Amino acid sequence: GPHIGCDTGHCGACTVDLNGRSVKACMVFTAQAQGAEITTIEGITQADGTLHPLQDAFREHHGLQCGYCTPGMIMSAIDIVHRHGGQLDEATVRTELEGNICRCTGYHNIVKAVLDAAGRMKVSQAAE
Ligand code: FES
Ligand code: FES
Repeated sequence: GPHIGCDTGHCGACTVDLNGRSVKACMVFTAQAQGAEITTIEGITQADGTLHPLQDAFREHHGLQCGYCTPGMIMSAIDIVHRHGGQLDEATVRTELEGNICRCTGYHNIVKAVLDAAGRMKVSQAAE
């Protein structure tokens, strides 16, 4: 799922979760990741195929076109939602996603998807 878009830390297409925080994988030395828990986009879908709320929201809001940036966008968005929770608004999403570049969508539907998923994740966390 993670893609090489630039290999210089600018595009975010390589973003993965490392010990609970999103990181640009191209900026992490292998030795720095030794013993770490790493999750890629493949690891957020449940075993029965149920999509993560962010995957669902991207699909429903058409938050992607070619999809090249999407795994990185979603892995960054998970971190954003976890850090901001109920304080998440459009301006915050746009600012936080500055490190993830999309050449196709114009970002509008990506932002809508993240805000929608943030609401769903809050509900499901409250239910746990
Ligand atoms: Fe672009 Fe890593 S490949 S930030
Ligand atoms: Fe094509 Fe974002 S959907 S780069």
